[in-house]
Amino acid sequence: PLVSMKEMLIKGKEEGYAVGQFNINNLEFTQAILQAAQEENSPVILGVSEGAARYMGGFKLIVTMVKELMEEYDVTVPVAIHLDHGSSLEKCVQAIHAGFTSVMIDGSHHPLEENIELTKRVVQIAHAVGVSVEAELGRIGGQEDDLTVDAADAFYAIPSECDQLVRETGVDCFAPALGSVHGPYKGEPNLGFDRMKEVMELTGVPLVLHGGTGIPTKDIKKAISLGSAKINVNTESQISSTQAVRDVLNNDGEVYDPRKFLGPARDAIKETVRGKMREFGSSGKA
Ligand code: G3H
Ligand code: ZN
Repeated sequence: PLVSMKEMLIKGKEEGYAVGQFNINNLEFTQAILQAAQEENSPVILGVSEGAARYMGGFKLIVTMVKELMEEYDVTVPVAIHLDHGSSLEKCVQAIHAGFTSVMIDGSHHPLEENIELTKRVVQIAHAVGVSVEAELGRIGGQEDDLTVDAADAFYAIPSECDQLVRETGVDCFAPALGSVHGPYKGEPNLGFDRMKEVMELTGVPLVLHGGTGIPTKDIKKAISLGSAKINVNTESQISSTQAVRDVLNNDGEVYDPRKFLGPARDAIKETVRGKMREFGSSGKA
């Protein structure tokens, strides 16, 4: 069923695994991720950035597409449709109105008080209709769609501020920026585990790890043990699917039927997602 993230993340945190947020970019991504979730018997979060929503034809089309595919594939595992890095109250409301079951309000570029005010307003509206909310503090480096944060501007969240934001807003889950990066890492990631532990102890809510692509398994395990119950992955599916397209086109200069390269792209995404679900421990937990 289509559900909010609330219950699935509480369960994940309690039982020591993380639910993957896999970003969708088109029909094939959506098909692959839903099939992977059902085959792994795993809860799943479909992440939709504002850029990807524009690309696909808007929030309503996405909700319709997801619902139809869930019916077509007899999906029984819990699925959330989540606005990724929502940039404003308006965008969050539009997503909720279209049928999204979860939203992120990313007020991380605002001063703390403004971020809290904005997040509070989103929570008030979202919770009235059973939609879950994620917030962010600190700044996650790297690039994802419209969002680019230079290394110099990225900074780690401050635990006392995280505590204040979570307490005053009532968000369901929370993403403290602690050194993870959107897109490929330059070298090994350097995650702030001490602060993650502090934030977990202070806030008590399920934590979210953005920039899940390229984080070594040992760090994934550690993050989960420190309360990270949601891990976002986008770039890795993009890389694996693009590689599959490249392989087909390089091997066959005559191919013109898009299904001949988009089918393999879809298979590659599915494999990537299944691997992550096993790594995060969410397989078999639906
Ligand atoms: O919000 C989405 C993510 O944090 C994805 O990060 O593209 O590095 O996997 P990634
Ligand atoms: Zn992110």
